[in-house]
Amino acid sequence: MKGIKGRVAIITGTASGIGAGLIKNFAASGAKLICVDIQGDGERFIDDFRDQATFLKADLRVDGDIAKIVDTAIRKFGQIDFLINCAATYVDKGASSTRSEWLNGFDSNLVGHVLLVQAALPYLKKSSSPSIVNFSSESAHVGLAGRWIYPATKAAIEQVTRSQALDLAEFGIRSNSVMPGWTRKPFHDAAPAEVAERYQNLSSRLHMLRRMGTVDEVAQAVLFLCSEHASFITGSCMHVDGGHSALGPQGLEVHLPTEIRKAAGVGSSASGDRCP
Ligand SMILES: NC(=O)c1ccc[n+]([C@@H]2O[C@H](COP(=O)([O-])OP(=O)(O)OC[C@H]3O[C@@H](n4cnc5c(N)ncnc54)[C@H](O)[C@@H]3O)[C@@H](O)[C@H]2O)c1
Repeated sequence: MKGIKGRVAIITGTASGIGAGLIKNFAASGAKLICVDIQGDGERFIDDFRDQATFLKADLRVDGDIAKIVDTAIRKFGQIDFLINCAATYVDKGASSTRSEWLNGFDSNLVGHVLLVQAALPYLKKSSSPSIVNFSSESAHVGLAGRWIYPATKAAIEQVTRSQALDLAEFGIRSNSVMPGWTRKPFHDAAPAEVAERYQNLSSRLHMLRRMGTVDEVAQAVLFLCSEHASFITGSCMHVDGGHSALGPQGLEVHLPTEIRKAAGVGSSASGDRCP
């Protein structure tokens, strides 16, 4: 994709799932990477890209760590072009979540990312093609049983993206979010066959494309948002969910009221089928 080669990206949450996929896809496109995760074993994910990537163990809830991330990027590569805020915690006890669990969720999934943008801002302003990509989730838009914190943090980051886009536009900085659907990760492959099959069956009913997404599919959407091809896209949320969020309450079923009318022998009126 145009506009990625030679650029410097900070990517958070790279010691797992989608973040690890981002390393692979950005490195393959010729970007230089500062890969960040709270998990120290994240080092192994840059093994194949050591000439292009540096791993930094850092906690986005700690101001000193945020400063260290930006310092490392500047010391190592001298510039920052892309900020990809992928890290997240899923810890959530729904209605029984404590104050500290709520604060931890928001600190990790929202505040840490916003403060990282703030710290990187002087360098993003100097870039000729600066871009921020935040990670939302389809859970930001629906009720989820037993989960109150995570979806609220994702709704918040999606909203902040719009304000970021507006306030940073004058510096040419674009800010967008991506909204992955169910994304296949290594633990899905490690699950016992019967669990994996249940998951697969459910996925095929929930997504128009009848399957889960892959980390590469999400990473390619993020690459696109950072690339020159997306030069007029800001303040948007890109759905990378196989059509999940566009499905109505009937899911993949045929339009049931129409079927009922047909079965009952009721024809359409001149103004069309008035069923909802
Ligand atoms: N996997 C999906 O199906 C899916 C669906 C919708 C949205 N998302 C979003 O995509 C992103 C990646 O998801 P994933 O499933 O790969 O997550 P993951 O749990 O596999 O990886 C998240 C990473 O963030 C790191 N992290 C958490 N808190 C941190 C902190 N305070 N400081 C630094 N690092 C921290 C974790 O150590 C972990 O390696 C997340 O933002 C998630 O909300 C994922």
